[in-house]
Amino acid sequence: MTHNSATLKFVVMSDLHLVGHGRTSLSLDTALRFEQAVACLNARYADDDFCIIAGDLADTAEAEAYARLKDIAGGIRIPTYITLGNHDDRATYLAMFGSHCADETGKVNHVIDAKGYRVIVLDSSEPGRVDGVLTAAQMTWLRTRLAEAADRPVIVVLHHNANALHIEADNIKLLDDAPFIAALKTHPDIRQVIAGHVHLTSTALYHGIPFTTLAGGHYSVNFNIDQPKAPFKALTGPGQMAVVLGTPHATTVLFEDFIDGNTVLGLHTPD
Ligand SMILES: [Fe+2]
Repeated sequence: MTHNSATLKFVVMSDLHLVGHGRTSLSLDTALRFEQAVACLNARYADDDFCIIAGDLADTAEAEAYARLKDIAGGIRIPTYITLGNHDDRATYLAMFGSHCADETGKVNHVIDAKGYRVIVLDSSEPGRVDGVLTAAQMTWLRTRLAEAADRPVIVVLHHNANALHIEADNIKLLDDAPFIAALKTHPDIRQVIAGHVHLTSTALYHGIPFTTLAGGHYSVNFNIDQPKAPFKALTGPGQMAVVLGTPHATTVLFEDFIDGNTVLGLHTPD
């Protein structure tokens, strides 16, 4: 793969929904899908700076699911940063990956400095809740991490979407986004806020900040804008990760569908 070595490049996966051996989730073999995602990453993005897995690692949060995560993610050939989603259980995760994975806020946050960018990963999971919570301690932590990086662009990754998408899942988005937005507004150059959770691809501008969701590795959903309470379809694909490229003046998010089901019609050679 050819790209300027000064270009930040990283992959975001989300919503693995891993289960124990011999089980499926909504008929899907989610471990097999995660293995396909890792194979895709290693084949196409092995020169990336890092990978982030943005929560809903496990479907029902049993220890065996985290053991499978550890096993399969161990095959990723680039540094990997993991945080939690609403399907996860922090204690079970920490028992498998080590208590050091939680920071002074008690949550699994990360800060990554690379290629002139700061990337901040926030743990929005809250025990007993399906919607997302960023605690006061996390907001203090975030404001400090943003202040340290006032001279460079910042990308934030977390499980829950902060912005409403005009779909039924809006009732399980980040519970109180106002403190989060206020913290983000202390920084002059937030390039992206990237989330999973909704199993749907979207982009938005919210309070002047670009927000993106990726469909992730589990089933994806359709939506009914005029009838948000109508049943929505759960679909087998695409099985999607996001590919983020950052230069000083541009931040781009591409979507890699590793289970796309497409028929190849022909090969085009760029001129
Ligand atoms: Fe999910």
